[in-house]
Amino acid sequence: MNIVILAAGQGKRMQSSIPKVLHPLAGKPMLGHVLDAVSLLSDAENIQPCVVIGHGGEAVQQYLLKHYPKTRVALQNEQKGTGHAVIQGLNQQVSEVITLVLYGDVPLIQTQTLKQLLDIASDGVLALLTQHVNNPTGYGRIVRNLNGEVVQIVEEKDADALVKKITEINTGILACPTQELNHWLAQIEPNNTQGEYYLTDIVSLAANAYTPIRTTTPTFDWETQGVNSRAQLALLERVYQGYLAQDLLDLGVTIVDPARIDIRGSLECEPDVFIDIGCIFEGSVRLNTGVRIGPYCQIKNSTIDAGTQVHAFTHIDGAKIARDAVIGPYARIRPGAQIADQVHIGNFVEVKNADVGKGSKANHLSYIGDATVGEGVNIGAGTITCNYDGANKHRTVIEDGAFIGSDTQLVAPVRVGKNATIGAGTTLTKDAPAQKLTISRTKQASIDWQRPIKNKLRNDQ
Ligand code: UD1
Ligand code: CA
Repeated sequence: MNIVILAAGQGKRMQSSIPKVLHPLAGKPMLGHVLDAVSLLSDAENIQPCVVIGHGGEAVQQYLLKHYPKTRVALQNEQKGTGHAVIQGLNQQVSEVITLVLYGDVPLIQTQTLKQLLDIASDGVLALLTQHVNNPTGYGRIVRNLNGEVVQIVEEKDADALVKKITEINTGILACPTQELNHWLAQIEPNNTQGEYYLTDIVSLAANAYTPIRTTTPTFDWETQGVNSRAQLALLERVYQGYLAQDLLDLGVTIVDPARIDIRGSLECEPDVFIDIGCIFEGSVRLNTGVRIGPYCQIKNSTIDAGTQVHAFTHIDGAKIARDAVIGPYARIRPGAQIADQVHIGNFVEVKNADVGKGSKANHLSYIGDATVGEGVNIGAGTITCNYDGANKHRTVIEDGAFIGSDTQLVAPVRVGKNATIGAGTTLTKDAPAQKLTISRTKQASIDWQRPIKNKLRNDQ
């Protein structure tokens, strides 16, 4: 199969220096959504989609090289219309197969709908994806004869009053045998209001040649919505987020307000997960049963095991959190953090590239970076692992059962032995032996003294 994805248009109304098809929807460029839908087709390995680029083509090409290296590009130097664009895309494509035409700015087309369309086209007919809408303004209209057969598509700008009343619209997406398509495309002329080569003109050519034309409709209305402006993109984002939320609700997840969740990637949840308002999930996130996410959390590329609670305003990125832990509010868990069962990480605690063992607690205002913390460790408020000497990072090891007094600096590399106690305010520069109290502190002294007295002459200051 050939797949041609049109993406050469400028997208003027986006008011952006970024090509339109690279604007993200649900965290992924629109073009990426289209290519992902294609990649789920059954014979995807054998398909090499071709993206027709023009405006901002270099950026689009770079994006494709990085994320979809199998994809080909065809350059359309001048945007002479959708028909002209498809011709560019079909250069060097084999003609014995079906061609599917898609659009880089119609991001949410679903694989299931493509399969429907391709099924029809496989009978050697021209398959059009059409839709009945309340307000057809701006779209090409599907004109049928008295037998209900499609005979023509008329663009809004070329339509008379009667045609404008038709509410069945052309979504633009179509599939048909490539040989015929090439044949029709060679015949289209830019004799219309816009002076463009219309892809849609192949429809009357097919009808005249008695090639059957059949239509199908998408499962969801939003699948075929195109994006021309930021406003349309924002609206489509909400529609899609609503759909993603509905999926989770159906699986038994509580989402306090489905209108206030953002999933930019994949969020996998077991039943009885609870998600409060304003949370953002990025990349690949998994939440196991009973996990509770408080309001306004941002969670990226992480897994959280059963029963763990994440309180408000917590950021978690690249972490693995085990069962029945309590995280936040206002905690920051960074890449490489592995948090074991029943750990408590409290407010304003940052954990990076660190293992924190079962049942350990760091409840307030601490930095735990490049560290291995054993089980049952208590880390007092204001504890800092000084992991960076300005050139290299070093590791801190805190063994099981240790107690770290408040306001301790652990200057890595350093080790705190099993069940050791570190006195509050200690700057630990050497290993602290197991079982003992280690403390570095200047001796406390009390001195008789007089407080300074305010100078009366200058008391206006
Ligand atoms: C097109 C259809 C119309 C349909 C509508 C659905 C034609 C003539 N009309 O109209 O029937 O209802 O889509 O949204 O096909 N593009 C190129 N190169 C070009 C021209 C366009 O790559 O030379 C790309 C654009 O970037 C865009 C897509 O093709 O992604 C559609 O082009 P656009 O000009 O928006 O077509 P419409 O007038 O909306
Ligand atoms: Ca359009």
